[in-house]
Amino acid sequence: MSKVISAHAVSVDGYISGRTPDGEEEFGRGLGDAPMLFDWYFDGDTPSQVFDGFKLSEPSARFFDTLAARVGASVAGRTTYEHSSHFGGGGPHPTAPLFVVSRGPVPEISERQTLVTTGIEDAIAAAREAAGDKEVSLMGGGLATEALKAGLVDELVLHQVPILLGGGHSFFRELPEHVNLRLLEAIPAPGVTHLHYEVVR
Ligand SMILES: NC(=O)c1ccc[n+]([C@@H]2O[C@H](COP(=O)([O-])OP(=O)(O)OC[C@H]3O[C@@H](n4cnc5c(N)ncnc54)[C@H](OP(=O)(O)O)[C@@H]3O)[C@@H](O)[C@H]2O)c1
Repeated sequence: MSKVISAHAVSVDGYISGRTPDGEEEFGRGLGDAPMLFDWYFDGDTPSQVFDGFKLSEPSARFFDTLAARVGASVAGRTTYEHSSHFGGGGPHPTAPLFVVSRGPVPEISERQTLVTTGIEDAIAAAREAAGDKEVSLMGGGLATEALKAGLVDELVLHQVPILLGGGHSFFRELPEHVNLRLLEAIPAPGVTHLHYEVVR
């Protein structure tokens, strides 16, 4: 069965997106507006074999491409979907189909995207089916927390960026109980440290 992987670029103080300089609004338009968490996508000289236009450092490219090549379907929380300009009607991954999770209607959903309103278990089951022999990637801190609560996450990747963002959207939310992790890899690279954990059940 496909594994479920949560992979996010995260500041050392645990934020997956920042906020505007006035400190009031978050980076409302999402990923593109928080460049300090994603600089390492473009700061190197090794082109990604999976994502057109990405040029990473050699250690980041090796880690990032290995992970990206495993992805067969993506599942995003509704906030991530909104903050990412609806992924332009497609998805965050060049080939993997996107499943968006919400408790209500999301009118802007495109024909190439699938909205799931019946819960995270259903969304991940549908994504697993679409992924075939590849894995399912989760996007969004709230979504990842819900999936952890449901015992559905197999691997956790933190692309940890050496910055204290000071505020924004927290990746980590409260859990009803602790979750043990086993470190599989820790890869230092320019501008980011890739921390790859397995969820211990
Ligand atoms: N740094 C990175 O790598 C990275 C990656 C992804 C996203 N981001 C950013 O992080 C922020 C994500 O925000 P977030 O973590 O607050 O939100 P999120 O996880 O993307 O979305 C939360 C929403 O997803 C839906 N949802 C979550 N769990 C559900 C469940 N069990 N059943 C039904 N619906 C469920 C709900 O939508 P409804 O309210 O519609 O019901 C919920 O409000 C965005 O700014 C995004 O751009 C960063």
